[in-house]
Amino acid sequence: MYLLELAGEDDAFAVREAESRCSAVDLVAPGIATARGVEAPEALAYTRRICRLVGTCAPDVEAASALARTAGRDRAGSIAVRARDVRGLAGIDTQAVERRLGSRLVDRGFDVDLETPDHTLLALFSSGLAALGWLETEPEREFAARKPTKKPFFQPGSMAPMDARALANIAGAAPGARILDPMCGTGGILVEAGLAGASVVGVDAQAKMVRGTERNLAAYLGEGSVLRGDATRLPLADDSVDGAVLDAPYGRQSKVAGGSLSALVGGTLSELRRVAPRAVLVGDRVWSDAAEAAGWSVADRFDRRVHASLTRYVHVLT
Ligand SMILES: C[S@@+](CC[C@H](N)C(=O)[O-])C[C@H]1O[C@@H](n2cnc3c(N)ncnc32)[C@H](O)[C@@H]1O
Repeated sequence: MYLLELAGEDDAFAVREAESRCSAVDLVAPGIATARGVEAPEALAYTRRICRLVGTCAPDVEAASALARTAGRDRAGSIAVRARDVRGLAGIDTQAVERRLGSRLVDRGFDVDLETPDHTLLALFSSGLAALGWLETEPEREFAARKPTKKPFFQPGSMAPMDARALANIAGAAPGARILDPMCGTGGILVEAGLAGASVVGVDAQAKMVRGTERNLAAYLGEGSVLRGDATRLPLADDSVDGAVLDAPYGRQSKVAGGSLSALVGGTLSELRRVAPRAVLVGDRVWSDAAEAAGWSVADRFDRRVHASLTRYVHVLT
């Protein structure tokens, strides 16, 4: 079993993303999940750390110390203990936990090496539960370095890379998969899908956006195909991609080529149904009726508040 430390505040969304790379994901406490199997979890955005689960216990030092007694029977070498009060929910003294669990392991013959340990025991404390695990993977967290204003081509209204990565993962971005963004804008979703291992194809109605996405893909991926076209008449064959992410224009903020926003979103959803087996639709309103009218089922929906005047409604379509 594995232990996942989730990032962000929206556990349901983080779990949904984790399910793209992990099996049997179970939220066991705020910010903490377990999973049965994991595959290439380093591409996840909303999972901070992945460990081999030692076990769970009450969120206090005594219980964690007792649990640490059972840890590492199959390990040798040097260790470090890292304790985390997830979102400050447990109100625990993490340094005291690290000292206590560290001395437990020293009693059992381990050496402590805080700089370059052979094994790191992670102790996560949340409300109602603590969990111990041996650290295996810390996904890269370079999202800030790729924020929209740092990219070669930037336009206002671009999505934050961490969200773009999570949406791409939910849509199925992984090595061997082909991911489409039919209204690619500056290409932020495609960059993250590509960094998650997928090959990418973008479409946008505006020549400026096509050229801009090409520049951004060249900077981060070195490849990717970008076409100028209409998302309601995609220049792609039936069933030619493995997943799609549609970041629909938000009201008046984005240029709407070809009629009303609902006609645009409805027409695009029908086209996505033709070319992809699954899609993620993001918009500034609920588009479930339009999705169902286009033949999709809304498997999940997440209402993600960005700021006072923008909530992004994320629809997972199958
Ligand atoms: C909300 S933006 C996408 C933003 C993008 N996710 C990003 O992070 O930069 C919407 C994009 O849809 C494009 N668009 C609008 N109508 C379109 C259509 N009919 N076909 C293709 N693209 C269209 C616009 O040119 C704009 O670039």
